[in-house]
Amino acid sequence: MTAPLLFAMPGNEAMTRALAQALDGDVGAMELRAFPDGETYLRLVSEVAGRRVVIVCTLDRPNTKILPLIFAAATARDLGAVEVGLVVPYLAYMRQDQRFRAGEAVTSRQIGAVLSDTFDWLVTVDPHLHRYPALDAVYRIPTRAAHSAPLVAAWIRQAIAHPIIIGPDSESVQWAAAVAADIGAPYSVLQKIRRGDREVEVSVADRTHLAGGTPVLVDDIISSGRTMIAAVSAIAALGGKQPLCIAVHGVFADDADALIERAGARVVTTSTIPHRTNAIDVTQVLVAAIIDLGRR
Ligand code: R5P
Repeated sequence: MTAPLLFAMPGNEAMTRALAQALDGDVGAMELRAFPDGETYLRLVSEVAGRRVVIVCTLDRPNTKILPLIFAAATARDLGAVEVGLVVPYLAYMRQDQRFRAGEAVTSRQIGAVLSDTFDWLVTVDPHLHRYPALDAVYRIPTRAAHSAPLVAAWIRQAIAHPIIIGPDSESVQWAAAVAADIGAPYSVLQKIRRGDREVEVSVADRTHLAGGTPVLVDDIISSGRTMIAAVSAIAALGGKQPLCIAVHGVFADDADALIERAGARVVTTSTIPHRTNAIDVTQVLVAAIIDLGRR
């Protein structure tokens, strides 16, 4: 197989270099800027004809990123790339996975359709699969979901002496349980009621598991941070030790990282979205997923 040619959408340069090195690929050059009227100018400087192109673009704050991403992929195809794959460490729009109220857009399906039309394959890390059993319920192209749990578990093992793994809500069970099993640590799940985008209540149903060690809250996404803040407060009310909050994807709307720290917890994330809290590098699981998909 010929060496892949990887392009970084803005902000994804470090991840792209790391992936290119691990895959023996080349890093391509792209010019991207906005015209005065806000429209996008895009030019692939590197020759793509006959190449297997991979575009790397994490999709936090997705609305402004998706259109340039589509332009980049379409241009690569237009100029003769033999295939165009997408490495999207954080895959946005997975949480609106059903019509909760009449008339709502099921945006997970709509974005799934757009990206499936645009790319030949897709690799991501821990997509928010709650009501969908797997990515292929939404995407019609070959996909792989890499799992960060072994990396999160390894990080906790070396950083925390007696961790007690806690999922802040029922949706977090899949991540909290996997991490706890890997470490051999106890885990429990809190109960969450969401009343609005920024209104969350969390309660502790089973206090017995919180005795002793350091509470380590594990969730897939921190967005507004309200889930973690409510969980930290619920644990503090029981007199537990200062908790650690770990998220696979630190989206951090509204300075959520600072708000959680102010509530009394340390925050750690994986590198799916570049941020000062990144402590767990997911490059190796992305590389393994790309190889597993036969794209090396
Ligand atoms: C939802 O089910 C997810 O697992 C997270 O708990 C949620 O997205 C966190 O959102 P926020 O930080 O806005 O509370």
